[in-house]
Amino acid sequence: MCGIIGYKGNKNAAEFILSGLSMLEYRGYDSWGVAIKKDNKISTFKKIGKISDRTKKDEIATGTIGMGHTRWATHGGITHENAHPHTNENGNIAIVHNGIIENYQKLKKSLKEKGHEFLSETDTEVIAHLIEEYEKDFDFFEAFKKALNDIEGSFAIVCMHKDKNELICARRDSPMVVGVNHKSKEYFVASDVPAFLEHTRDVIFMDDNEIVVINDKPTFYNLLNGKKVEKKEQHITWDIAQAKKGDFEHFMLKEIKEQKETLKNAISQKDEIIENIANKINSGFGVFFVASGTSLNAAKSAAYMFSKHAKKHVNVVDASEFEYYKDFLTPKTLMITISQSGETADVLSAVKTAKKIGVEIISIVNVMGSSLERQSNAALLMNAGPEICVVATKTYTSQLAILHLIVYAVSGRLKRGKEWLKYAADHVDELTNQSEITKLENLALRLKDCHHMYIIGRGLSYPTALEAALKIKEVSYIHAEAFAGGSLKHGPLALIEKGTPLIVFAPKDETFNQTITNTIEAKARGAFIIGVSPEDNEAFDFHINVPDLNGTSPIANIIPIQVFAYYLAVLKGLDPDMPRNLAKSVTVK
Ligand code: F6R
Repeated sequence: MCGIIGYKGNKNAAEFILSGLSMLEYRGYDSWGVAIKKDNKISTFKKIGKISDRTKKDEIATGTIGMGHTRWATHGGITHENAHPHTNENGNIAIVHNGIIENYQKLKKSLKEKGHEFLSETDTEVIAHLIEEYEKDFDFFEAFKKALNDIEGSFAIVCMHKDKNELICARRDSPMVVGVNHKSKEYFVASDVPAFLEHTRDVIFMDDNEIVVINDKPTFYNLLNGKKVEKKEQHITWDIAQAKKGDFEHFMLKEIKEQKETLKNAISQKDEIIENIANKINSGFGVFFVASGTSLNAAKSAAYMFSKHAKKHVNVVDASEFEYYKDFLTPKTLMITISQSGETADVLSAVKTAKKIGVEIISIVNVMGSSLERQSNAALLMNAGPEICVVATKTYTSQLAILHLIVYAVSGRLKRGKEWLKYAADHVDELTNQSEITKLENLALRLKDCHHMYIIGRGLSYPTALEAALKIKEVSYIHAEAFAGGSLKHGPLALIEKGTPLIVFAPKDETFNQTITNTIEAKARGAFIIGVSPEDNEAFDFHINVPDLNGTSPIANIIPIQVFAYYLAVLKGLDPDMPRNLAKSVTVK
């Protein structure tokens, strides 16, 4: 959470920083701020709200070196004082930070005793004062290094000193990537690649406990011992068009509509890599799928797929609960983590726990160079391109497709699995053609003011129901709750009254008849039934037609509900790309 960017070049830094911040806004949008250095002076500008709400009056200083921050509040409320950048008292040192300083209270107390005065309630401000304190006895580089070595917790930090024509940055357990354009002699540092994708695709991913000093060029050092580190440049294949809205009003709809393409990319994995993972699953002593949020719903779907198509038991654990499962692990256990960002703190913490026991980690991840990719023994990239909308859509179906490939490889039928997936990819476009979109928009218009919605599915469709509920509540703030079809009668049926919307996933599989029975039970109590099915049924008040995709039905069935959720938000006047209180990369536990 929080997006940071730094620029060092020969043009007006503010332009690069502001455009970079707007690309990073999905990471946090409580407040934003910029610091620019020119002629031994640092000027800062901060504002509450979204960078997209910036007005012409918000004047930012000019200069060729600077930094910016878009905040997702943790320590301290959403105030002007708590917005980044933070400085020491005399404004010599400016800092932007993503992460959590766990021992900040102790550090703050000792700095206060030494006479430092604090302006904000943030943990970050401590760093600027701590560097200043060390600068009394050491040069700036040494002071920066010493200050960061006193810190417990996670950080990606960009720092400037009024007398230094450089950026000095460091990371530990929070993402940070350096963008290089040697030709124009422009260098960037950011939380994520889209921040500078328009200007370069050549990047250097920073590892934990590394410092980079960006002067004439970036030079890397080990944060613990100060020794130089050699780093490799990598070329990113993401396209800037993928990171821009184009003709769409919101990223959410753009990304929903990209799914034909992203599914094809997800399927194009090398057979030998998928088969190798399948062999590990077959020989592993216990397989754990670990993920959060939408990625967890994909893992839940995989558990049903493994049971149905590969007759294989796998465990699915919410990453935030993984710690409490660690006694089941042995060095023979296999852990498969799923994460769009590859930066989710709960997932990374689960990986740390498992690695201590010697567990092998395989990851399914979208962001190349992410912490998760680099901490895993092997990683499969989703190749979905950047997902900018805070809520996950296209990457969910990419995850399902990759999991499907693995399931079929485990049962020795990878070729058959691929054929099904290609068929699914060829049919998803019809779910978002103009007439379907208009139909779903009308449904959203009818239901946008309701306070509760329920969703049911059985078997493979139960995780789809969970994901549908998550999508609806995230963007529309309507209370949406999913149940296994058979569990309605065990209590939740009491919630149904005249007109209560009930979305029913009813693919033409072995669950169909019982799902319809559960639907009729709810209809008899007045529920307004929205059936998502390849076949209309008299139990449905509203039918959403989906292609009959057999085992790959979860891929298609979620898409109309993604569109429906999108219109619920838009018609309520909400921004589906940036729902309240949320951020894209959840880098805190
Ligand atoms: C839901 C959503 C979140 C994420 C979750 C995990 O739309 O976006 O629930 O799925 O925070 O994120 P990743 O997949 O990046 O680990």
